[in-house]
Amino acid sequence: MQTQSLSTSTGDILHAAHLLRAGELVAFPTETVYGLGAMVFNESAVRAIFTAKGRPSDNPLIVHCADRTDVERVAINIPPLFDALFERFCPGPLTMLLERHIAVPDAVTAGLNTVAVRFPAHPVAETLIRTAGEPLVAPSANRSGRPSPTQAQHVMNDLAGRIAAVIDGGSCEVGIESTVLNILTNPPVILRPGSITKEMLEDVVGYEVVHGSYAIKTSNDGISEVSFPTLAPGMKYRHYAPEARIILVDSMAEALQTARGIEGQQGNLVWILSNSVKKPEHDIFLLSEQTLYAMFRNADAQNVGTLILVCDPHVRNNEGLMNRIQKAASRK
Ligand code: TXA
Ligand code: MG
Repeated sequence: MQTQSLSTSTGDILHAAHLLRAGELVAFPTETVYGLGAMVFNESAVRAIFTAKGRPSDNPLIVHCADRTDVERVAINIPPLFDALFERFCPGPLTMLLERHIAVPDAVTAGLNTVAVRFPAHPVAETLIRTAGEPLVAPSANRSGRPSPTQAQHVMNDLAGRIAAVIDGGSCEVGIESTVLNILTNPPVILRPGSITKEMLEDVVGYEVVHGSYAIKTSNDGISEVSFPTLAPGMKYRHYAPEARIILVDSMAEALQTARGIEGQQGNLVWILSNSVKKPEHDIFLLSEQTLYAMFRNADAQNVGTLILVCDPHVRNNEGLMNRIQKAASRK
């Protein structure tokens, strides 16, 4: 299969919608990262997403809607809290869990009785969903285990030959995936942190919202195992990690000192990423939500041996960014 590169013209979006309606997979830009779209009610198209990405089938997909009325097609018993949060944050980078409608294929929810719903704040995504005529399931458009794509080229690098088309809408504005919130529990639980923060959510909810966490349980024979009762299923998989070794430091001074120590060792290319970089120079680049995943991909392409990330207070206070950094750093 030859993957078509499409523009954001009306004609190309119409063509993309035709492909989707024919059961094909099309990657498209959202404000967070590129998504790999399929028609939500076409079960074989939904299954093809898992094959194209190499995604474990127990990891459910987010349903992307254009209008509030779309939600009634995929969810039931929608609580008032949904509408309160919808009013404040949608369209935008917030995904909410709802009770699943019987019409939603098992492949979408991985058999769960909940369905995750979001409204992407990107004109191309909104137009594509409306033109396709039904909500689109869309995981991040990367091969499983690779960083989420924030440019069309990243999608091509991972999925060329495996999907019908990619719509090139330039770089994604937010750069990390949406906040995933379970609003069916009391208190609501953040299953995946993102740019819509706990504080922002609490401002609407009116009471405490909690972060999901890992729980260690010890079985009878004394062996500890990790379970993930309050995290999104996808959070247990290896994600977001470049080939390079990642070292976290507190300041640029510490980064420079660490780099000097490593650069003496032969053939080990070292890059420093810092939030306070005004203009990137040789081997020192900007660390931000928008640039993190692209930097990981660039580092792989350049065979960088070590990435030193300056986690100053500004970075540490960004819960979505810090979550992705820690996942990348803890992989090896
Ligand atoms: O920003 C985003 O959310 C991007 C763009 C493309 O919209 N999409 C995205 O999808 O990140 P994906 O498939 O890469 O991640 C979806 C996450 C996974 O961690 C998955 O386990 C979780 O959402 N999820 C989906 N449905 C769920 C459900 N019913 N219950 C709990 N977690 C769910
Ligand atoms: Mg993903």
